[in-house]
Amino acid sequence: RHNGAEGGWLERLVRLDTVVSTQEEARRLAESGAPEGTAVMAEEQTGGRGRQGRRWHSPRGQGIWMSVVLRPRLTAAAAPQLTLLAGVAVCEALREVAGVEAGIKWPNDLLIGGRKVCGILLEAHFREGVPDYLIAGIGVDCLAVEEDFPEELRAVATSLRIERGGVPVDREELAAAMLSGLEERYRQYFAEGFAPIAARWEELSVTLGRRIALAGPKEQRTGVAAGLDENGGLRLVNDAGETFTVLSGEIEWMN
Ligand code: BTN
Repeated sequence: RHNGAEGGWLERLVRLDTVVSTQEEARRLAESGAPEGTAVMAEEQTGGRGRQGRRWHSPRGQGIWMSVVLRPRLTAAAAPQLTLLAGVAVCEALREVAGVEAGIKWPNDLLIGGRKVCGILLEAHFREGVPDYLIAGIGVDCLAVEEDFPEELRAVATSLRIERGGVPVDREELAAAMLSGLEERYRQYFAEGFAPIAARWEELSVTLGRRIALAGPKEQRTGVAAGLDENGGLRLVNDAGETFTVLSGEIEWMN
């Protein structure tokens, strides 16, 4: 077992009403010793955070805004693997419970028909230079209708309701499936290693085979996504036929 208390993760789900960010609530619990798998879910976030310092719009009752405490014993180099693991588990839950054709855009955005329905944010907290715990934050847009999105977002964002032809999804059922799926994949990861997770990620990916651009510190790099490496990096092949790997960042489609 991995530092867990008895019982499944679902039994330790903490429900809150309005919070600034469930990331902070989960962090507070982790700091006071909450066991692995402790999750916090809120009805509304007033300061929801996205990747790359962006804000995450989290209106009341409209989505699943959840953060999960993880305490893996691993090196910082393996952290990208957990990022991909979270994407796999949540993607599978969306497919099973909501019946949507969700796919993964590297590293862990979930898209339906090219539009984003879910974002995942992994934050590592260090103690004396080693990762102490991670907080996996998951935001799923469940109930928004097209008009809820500002004009400029309609081409890039969607909700489960929109994708289900107006039929709302049961948030409780979906949240439970996400959490137990995460728990299951997490156990598999420690029992069998990263390879089966990587294989599943590749199956669910909408990234492989596409030409991709990455904003780098100096220049933009481009290549065709070919697969994952053993650390969870994305392997790309550039125009000269050379393979290079990226471990983090944002990608953009070029085709
Ligand atoms: C992204 O795609 O940029 C990641 C979005 C992550 C949003 C979730 S909602 C629950 C948790 N609390 C936050 O403040 N952010 C994450």
